[in-house]
Amino acid sequence: MKIRTLSDFNLRNKRVLLRLDLNTEIIKGKAQLSERMKAHQITLNELKKKKAITVILAHQSRPGEKDFTSLKQHAKLIKVKFVPDIIGEKAINAIKSLKPGEVLLLDNIRNLKEEFDGTENNNLVRTLAPLFNIYINDAFSVSHREQTSVTGFPKVLPCGMGRVMEAEVKSLENINLKNTLYILGGAKPKENIDVLKNSKNVLTCGVFGQLCTIAKGANLGAQNVFLKNKIKEFVPLLKPLVKEIQTPIDFAVNINGKRKDLPLKEFPSQYEIFDIGPQTQKLYVEKIKQAKSIFMKGVAGYCEDKQFQQGTKAILQAIAKSKAFSVVGGGHTTDAISKLHINKKKFGYISLSGGALDEYVAGKKLPGLEVLRKSKKK
Ligand code: 3PG
Repeated sequence: MKIRTLSDFNLRNKRVLLRLDLNTEIIKGKAQLSERMKAHQITLNELKKKKAITVILAHQSRPGEKDFTSLKQHAKLIKVKFVPDIIGEKAINAIKSLKPGEVLLLDNIRNLKEEFDGTENNNLVRTLAPLFNIYINDAFSVSHREQTSVTGFPKVLPCGMGRVMEAEVKSLENINLKNTLYILGGAKPKENIDVLKNSKNVLTCGVFGQLCTIAKGANLGAQNVFLKNKIKEFVPLLKPLVKEIQTPIDFAVNINGKRKDLPLKEFPSQYEIFDIGPQTQKLYVEKIKQAKSIFMKGVAGYCEDKQFQQGTKAILQAIAKSKAFSVVGGGHTTDAISKLHINKKKFGYISLSGGALDEYVAGKKLPGLEVLRKSKKK
């Protein structure tokens, strides 16, 4: 069934519950304005213009992570009202007092355990759903998650997708990746593993590349300590998959804030890894030159610090120069393209999604998309 878009609803004076993806980099405690936030303005402006009453659900990071924070700063960045509450009295009063054309952001939805059951049978849906007429998901990038703000509300409210999600779905439907070179990086290994299972021609970088290197038997020293939990969770899954894939041959470590490049044979090192090294960059650039089509997701290193942007920059510049059709995704990766001033027009398609894109490319069905497709609520 076709997913409804904003054009299919009369939005005037309607109460709209809107799922956005505001998940962003937090640098020295400061939430950064992201490409996703900029893109969501299209949907927000339309809702404001059409006099809807809009309340946003969004997340920042995951419980237990360093960057798991309140969304107060995010509200300022996207220029909407904020209430530091989700289903309490404060939130309900703030929602009820909104006027047509106004927009309110609730606090980090992942503060609530109910967010993680993914159903419509919990307090989160029971409290908020009766306050709304329509649910809109504008976050394709979170649609691989079976979480209540993605899969619970559309089961009980008339639902559709926002303009960002609509553009993403349309573009991806027209993309056909064949004989593709996959460049998989970033710090979220789970979804990359799904891509690995179906692809042979793979270059790895970022934390993912380090985990693949460890899965091949290397001891990276301090980085093994830093990645302890991820090693436990992912290395056993990676072991049978890494034999034929390319892993970094050198890394840049951080010695008291200064970059030093070390070949793999000099590991274990007492210093943590912040980027891929120059030899790896050279090797990957050569492979990119030969590729017929390219899929890249996830950065190669710690792009918040200029010294460690080198690997990501080398890869992105090589993709931009290549004549191959390219798809690039991941929140940090798309932010890096802007930050590094690489011409966006040089890429075939830039997706705002990371893990969701991985799963889509791996042929999986995204629960957040399926629930909108199946909805019969009018
Ligand atoms: C992302 O940044 O890819 C999305 O916001 C999803 O975040 P998650 O992997 O923590 O669900």
